[in-house]
Amino acid sequence: MMVKLQDICKSFGEIDILHRISLDIDKEEIVCILGPSGCGKSTLLNTIAGLINPDQGDIQTNIEKIGYVFQEDRLLSWKTVYENIRLVDHSKSAEVLNKLIEEIGLKGFENYFPNELSGGMRQRCSVARAFNYQAELLLMDEPFKSLDYFLRIKMLKQLINVWENEKSSICFVTHEIDEALLLGDRVIVLSNRPAEIVGSFKIETRQKDRKLNSETLVEIRSQIIDLLFESGNSI
Ligand SMILES: Nc1ncnc2c1ncn2[C@@H]1O[C@H](COP(=O)(O)OP(=O)(O)OP(=O)(O)O)[C@@H](O)[C@H]1O
Ligand SMILES: [Mg+2]
Repeated sequence: MMVKLQDICKSFGEIDILHRISLDIDKEEIVCILGPSGCGKSTLLNTIAGLINPDQGDIQTNIEKIGYVFQEDRLLSWKTVYENIRLVDHSKSAEVLNKLIEEIGLKGFENYFPNELSGGMRQRCSVARAFNYQAELLLMDEPFKSLDYFLRIKMLKQLINVWENEKSSICFVTHEIDEALLLGDRVIVLSNRPAEIVGSFKIETRQKDRKLNSETLVEIRSQIIDLLFESGNSI
């Protein structure tokens, strides 16, 4: 176990956001949190990160190093792509950093500043920086949201490549079913606000061998869609 949430509840003022969320994240595991817009996904990640205290429930963790790719990128505007990635760990060689930059698809943009990049490129830079940090647990909040469908799938494949080498645990938030199906060892489905866990799917196939049109993933996708609509959700 790396993180164990038990019966987490959180409200902001009168509004209930998280309702009795219990969730474990294991070593080297990718857990995808899938839920509709505004249901409380970022709040849940912030709670796992320790940035928000729950009103009720318990969080146990034995992790010291948590990385976080926030929903909005938090790059330093006065530093280049290369410098932004390097700043979380100065000990890495240029060779290692350049390999990471290439894997995430930013080769050729090393010396660009954030305001010279597209939104998607900034997000990828944040992802590369998070990997350079080599956290034990990496929290990712819709890191590819401003990319089109095909680029997003391509980025996921690159993310999987990097993860296969690093094998950190990842908690990945998204509202895209296909992203969750390609990435998650487990996919946790949340209801509309207040977010409750309405489904949990374990996917045994190795990420690299997954195909969206395989029988297994088609079946899980259809169950997820049923769940989302049954619980009054809209995505
Ligand atoms: N610091 C805060 N103070 C008050 N309300 C908040 C705060 N943070 C979030 N909320 C409320 O909590 C709810 C859930 O927000 P959250 O950002 O967790 O949703 P989300 O699932 O990440 O949404 P999205 O898919 O749009 O990113 C929203 O109604 C939001 O207004
Ligand atoms: Mg969010």
